[in-house]
Formats: sequence, C-alpha cells, structure tokens
Amino acid sequence: MCGIVGYIGKQKAASILLDGLQRLEYRGYDSAGLAVLSGEKFSHLRRTGRVKNLAQAAREHSLFGGTGIGHTRWATHGEVTEANTHPHVSSDEKFALVHNGVIENYLGIRKFLEGKGYEFFSSTDSEALVNLIAYHYAKEQNGTDRFFESVRKSLLHVEGTYGLGVLCLDEPGEIIGARKGSPLIVGLGDGESLLASDVAAFAHHTQNVVYLNDSEIVRLKAGGFSISTISQEDVEAVVQRVDWQVEESTLGDFSHYMEKEIFEQPTALENAMRGRLDEVNGTAKFGGLNLTASEFRQVDRILFCACGTAWHACLVAEYLIERFARIPVEVEYASEFRYRNAPLDKDTLVFVISQSGETIDTLAALREARRKGFRTLAITNVVGSTIARETDGGIYQYAGAEIGVASTKAFTSQILISAMVALYFGRLRDLSYQDGIVLIQALKNLPDQIRTILSEADHIQKIARKYADAEGFLFLGRQVMFPIALEGALKLKEISYIHAEGYPAAEMKHGPIALISETCPSLLFVNNDEMYHKTLSNLQEVRARKGRVIAVTTLDANFPKDLANDIITIPSAHEAVQPILASIPVQLLSYYIAKERNCDVDKPRNLAKSVTVE
Ligand code: G6P
Repeated sequence: MCGIVGYIGKQKAASILLDGLQRLEYRGYDSAGLAVLSGEKFSHLRRTGRVKNLAQAAREHSLFGGTGIGHTRWATHGEVTEANTHPHVSSDEKFALVHNGVIENYLGIRKFLEGKGYEFFSSTDSEALVNLIAYHYAKEQNGTDRFFESVRKSLLHVEGTYGLGVLCLDEPGEIIGARKGSPLIVGLGDGESLLASDVAAFAHHTQNVVYLNDSEIVRLKAGGFSISTISQEDVEAVVQRVDWQVEESTLGDFSHYMEKEIFEQPTALENAMRGRLDEVNGTAKFGGLNLTASEFRQVDRILFCACGTAWHACLVAEYLIERFARIPVEVEYASEFRYRNAPLDKDTLVFVISQSGETIDTLAALREARRKGFRTLAITNVVGSTIARETDGGIYQYAGAEIGVASTKAFTSQILISAMVALYFGRLRDLSYQDGIVLIQALKNLPDQIRTILSEADHIQKIARKYADAEGFLFLGRQVMFPIALEGALKLKEISYIHAEGYPAAEMKHGPIALISETCPSLLFVNNDEMYHKTLSNLQEVRARKGRVIAVTTLDANFPKDLANDIITIPSAHEAVQPILASIPVQLLSYYIAKERNCDVDKPRNLAKSVTVE
C-alpha cells in the first residue's frame, strides 16, 4: 500500500526514483510524485494516475540533483488529486516527505500547527507530519543534528503507522527514513544509498540490504547509514544479501503479469516442492519450522489467519489438515482475529499465510498470537519480509515475484504447501506410509497436469468470450472445492468488475438462487467424488432457472455433455491436489473475461497488491 523510494548518491536521482516507482507500482497506482534536491529548492513533480504520467512529465522538466524521494500512492486520506499526491512539502518549503501508512492523530496535529500559522494544501494525514517536522526544526534552532532530531521528535508524537522518507533543504547530503508498521528497507551501493518499501525497487542497483524494524529511524548518506530507535537506543544493523533475479519482474512475451504468472505455475510448484518430499519416510520435510516432531505431536488445534486470496488458501488448508492429519483447524480473517481476543487452547498452533509477508492485519494477527505466547508459523513468498522475520518458524513459497495484483501462482503454491503440511502432520499421527507415498506421487504429478490444463488456454478463452457480458456470476463448489469457488469469484470480480459470489453449491438455494438468470451464469466444480450426484442436482437447479452453466469437471467424472453450456475438463487427481488443478481454469477464465472487457488486468481499480494499512 503506497510505494516509497529514496536515493542519495552520484547519479541523477530522478531517473532512479522513476525506475524504482515503476517497480513499486503494484503497491498503489492512484498517483505518483517525486522531489529532488537541486540547489536552493526542491524540484517537485506530481501527477495523478500511473507512474508513466509522472515519467512523461519528468521528461519535460530538468530534474538535476543526486538526492531525492518518490512515492506511488494508494489513496487513504483525500481523493486522488495532485494536491494529495506525495511528496508533501512543508509550508515553509524546507522539507519534503513521502509516507506510507496512516497518521491516526493527524487532525489534532494539523489543528495545533494551523494555530501556529502553518498552511495546509492537501487533505492527507501525511502533510500534518511534514509540517510537524518543520515546526520542530524551527524550534531546535541551533541544535546539532537538527534535521534528524526534528524528524525523531515528531515521530514521538505520531500515533499510527508509517514508512517514510524525508528531505531537508539545509541538509542535501542526507535522507531520513523511519518505519513503524509499514516496511522500509535500506540498500547500500557503491557510493550511493537507497531506501524503499520493497527490495524490488532497487535490487538491480544493489543486493546489500538492511531491513528496518518497527520504531527504527535511519540516517542515510551517499557513503553509509546509521540506525537507532526513535527513543534513541542503539541498533546493530545487519547487512544482508538478497537473492534477487531481476529478470523475474519482466513481462517477456506475455500481455500481462497475471497471464505470465498463471503460466509460471508448474515451475512455481516445482520450486515449492524442491527438497521437501521425503520418499524414504513417505512424508514432507521443511527446513525452517523450528519445532521438533514431538512438539508438533502436542499440537491439538491449528488456527490459520490471513487476508484476501491467502485466506482462501487457509480454507483449503483446513480441509486438507483435518482430512489427512485429523487435527481440528479454524480459519479466521486476520483483521478479525487481531481484535477478537479469541479464547485459544494452550496447544494451539497459529499459522499465518501471506504472499507479501507485509499485510498489516496478518502481521498484527501474528504479533497478537506471539504476544500471547502461542507458537507461530508462516507461509510467505517474500524472503526477508516482516512476517518471515517475526514468525517462530516458516515455509517459504519460492514462487518467484508475483507482480499482478490478482494472486495466482502464489495461491496455488500456498495450497501445495498446505498439502505438504497436512502430509507432514498426518505422518506424525495416523496417516500410513503407503498413503503418504500416494500423496507424494500426486504432488509430483501436479506440474505436468497443470501444463496439460494450460495447453487448453485457447478453449478457455473461447468460453470467456461468451460470458464477458455477464452481469453477475456464481461460483459453486462443495467440500474442498468451496474455497476454490470463493477464490474464483474473487478473481473474477477484482479484475473484470463483474459482481461474483462464491458459495457452497447446496447453500446456493438459500439466497443467491434469486440472482440466477440468463445474464447471471454459474460455474460449478464437478469432481468424481462422493459429492458428484449431489453437485449435479445443484447444477440442475441452476439450469431449471435458465441459468447458463460452465462445468469445471475432472476427466474421470464422465460429465454428461448436455448438462452444461460449456465444459472445461481437468485431469483427475488425488483429492488433496484437485483444488490446485481446479484453480487454473478459473484463473484463466477470469483473466480472459477481464481482457475481453478491456480491463486493466494487472492493476485493477482501487486495489493494491500489498495492503499495509488497516
Ligand atoms: C491484497 C491483494 C490480494 C492478496 C491480499 C493478501 O488484497 O490484492 O491479492 O491476497 O492482499 O495479501 P498477502 O500478501 O498477505 O497474501
């Protein structure tokens, strides 16, 4: 949610900032801006819309100077206007600030400063902070470290969250950054230093990074940096090397990142499995769980927390772990759990799932669980993310960078890892060696089965054309296909703006059935399982009301051809991996429908990939 980038060094800051903003655009794309220190003033440029608008404007302006900050915005306080776009400049024009997060007490700060004669030009919470810094600076007068101290003292008055970068006209050789609740990472190059919300912004400049922790403040110079806490404790900064493949974030021959990421799934899943299947013992193994087998045996209950698509992955995990390990599982929205004060048994294991590892509600749920003394584990994709650093143990997805806002390969890799977790827990309890081996084989078959589905992409695109004018859509599935129905509906609505609902197929009768019409088709998952006949009955109920039907069905279900308007056949597989296979056609269908409707697939309106505000 909002992307920040800062640069100080010998190169032209503006072009590095613009490049970084382009790479951070997935965090928000309502508007973008930058401020560069050149001589006596800031070169300050802001534009609504995409970073490309800002880049276009930058070509028409001379933006010299080697120190600057930039921001791409996901609007919280104030509409999408140029005045509300970051960087914000203090009313004495001495400071420029970029901010990610929410200053909750901004109204009080603003009122106080207005009383002191400070002027405000935006509706943002961030402008209150830049003027508070100016106020402290004016008060400090001749103190040493005046710039640094004014930022630090201002932050002591702030309630809320921030990742920020600040420039001061009087100190052109310095950028101050700070973090509380929103990620901030320092990059250390040769005679240059960078600051960003995500390593992706600068990984092609340097892979030497320092992750800031909450309540830390950094002073960045071209030749180095120093970090302390906001309350002035020393911090021993650890410089880490990140393993980042720059080519991962390029589009190649694909039209959109979402399409590319759908097609990357066979490889993403191979990466998630690599070295983790133990055929000798018929189980799975993970390097970073930090719990012994006997500690795992004491787990009586598992609570999963997540947001968005990752929450749907948790629902699949619930089915798989209860089915194969017979451990009771509950799933909560992280945003609800963090404030619910739910009673948890002492032998509960708290598991969070987050692609980015930065979603604030998921992070807060993790912290709440840890504060109460529960053991926590996480499944995350982004190495070094805050959740990955704060959890007791975890499993990396290794799915590669996911740029498209709508999650695809991260979702299926989360389900795959959940299946491996179910296998691991199952083998610690009642799952036989033989059953373990059968599941391992099913997992190993997955990448090729997905390739088979992907080779049917043209067929799915043809179907998508027929449904692109739908006014609404129902996604219906039973048992473990229910979460896939939820995910299918989410995928379609977020990228095509067609209202869609996911429902347990039988539950559809209790409300959504009222929506069924010629313009509201239904997609049903029909597997060859114990629910087969019951699902077909639900399908008939849709058809009886003139609802068009797309059936996503397994090869062994021998689905009667005349029962659906369109049929997508997927390979038959072990029940633990069937939800992964069923996800692929639904992703493709949503993608092609959105494309047909000329939607901005990778950057759907109002959304952001990484949600770092509550
Ligand atoms: C946002 C994204 C979703 C994602 C959710 C959780 O809403 O648009 O695609 O599922 O955040 O993100 P996380 O990084 O925690 O998985």
